[in-house]
Amino acid sequence: MVDIALLESDLTAAIAAAGSADALEDVRVRALGKNGSVTALLKTLGGLSPEEKQTKGPLFNGLRERVTAALGTRKTILEAAALDVQLAAERVDITLPAATVPVGRLHPVHRVMDELTEIFADLGFAVAEGPEIESDWHNFTALNIPPEHPARAMHDTFYFPADANGDRKLLRTHTSPVQIRTMMSQKPPIRIIAPGRTYRSDSDATHTPMFHQVEGLVIDRHITMAHLRWTLETFIKAFFEVDDIITRFRPSFFPFTEPSAELDVQCQWGGGELKVGEGSDWLEILGCGMVHPKVIAACGLDPTEWQGFAFGCGIDRLAMLKYGMTDLRAFFDADLRWLKHYGFSFLDVPTLSGGVGA
Ligand code: DAH
Repeated sequence: MVDIALLESDLTAAIAAAGSADALEDVRVRALGKNGSVTALLKTLGGLSPEEKQTKGPLFNGLRERVTAALGTRKTILEAAALDVQLAAERVDITLPAATVPVGRLHPVHRVMDELTEIFADLGFAVAEGPEIESDWHNFTALNIPPEHPARAMHDTFYFPADANGDRKLLRTHTSPVQIRTMMSQKPPIRIIAPGRTYRSDSDATHTPMFHQVEGLVIDRHITMAHLRWTLETFIKAFFEVDDIITRFRPSFFPFTEPSAELDVQCQWGGGELKVGEGSDWLEILGCGMVHPKVIAACGLDPTEWQGFAFGCGIDRLAMLKYGMTDLRAFFDADLRWLKHYGFSFLDVPTLSGGVGA
């Protein structure tokens, strides 16, 4: 005859000693499994007389219930302990600096736009924006490029289908229409730069159908080309991080400026590397000039009172020159390896004090 009290104390001790879910399961199988000790006791009930069943039945079933309850209690305790261990192991220190988890890179074009914004903000310029889908009037006519003007042919424009009035919208071919929008919506004095996307139907190693420009515009009283030259030299020095540069204005033509010039910067090419501020080569950087009186008048301002200067510059080219990239098309391939190599950390914000190229 099995000693019930002894069996119960053995099982209770084994349950208390089980240190893991697996060990506890072993105890459960030994007691309540098909061949378990408690199961074996319960099986004997079938062969007992009705009187014996009345006494042994509650005894055996009571044992089974208490063992089951003890197993359940121990299981809860073991599970709580296991959870504590897991939580401790998976603990995340949210006070660690985010730089230890670098994900994603900023495109060099984005970076250069940030640098331009920082440099010109320091000179008192605000950032202006305009739509990429532009009217013919803003993109051409108001900029002194009337419909029959030959300069239109140079722009390889993407046109949209004409509307009911015969007006055709277009993808802006330059950022210059932002000059128009700014002069029409703000009162002078105006100092803005307008970086953004521009489009021309052109594609080879140095041209992509979508590219980036930055426009600059200053409108005030008594503005001269000397202000333009100083502003551009200050910009080039800050952008290429050199103390001294030599620039030259080459006479040029743009319908929206008079006089017009192109700015070259003294440079040296050596070993495939560009050095700005030394050497005997010249680097073409941008187009510029004094805003044509007709453009000022088209925006509803009196050109005898207000003058100004403007400039326009390709951003992709600036990025290539500064960061040593040779193929423009790679800019828009969306190749992650390229971006990892040439991209910038989003935490590495350009500042004039820290160096805009840092
Ligand atoms: N819009 C011209 C272009 O895309 C660049 C330019 C030249 C802009 C002279 C200007 C400027 O504002 O004054 O080629």
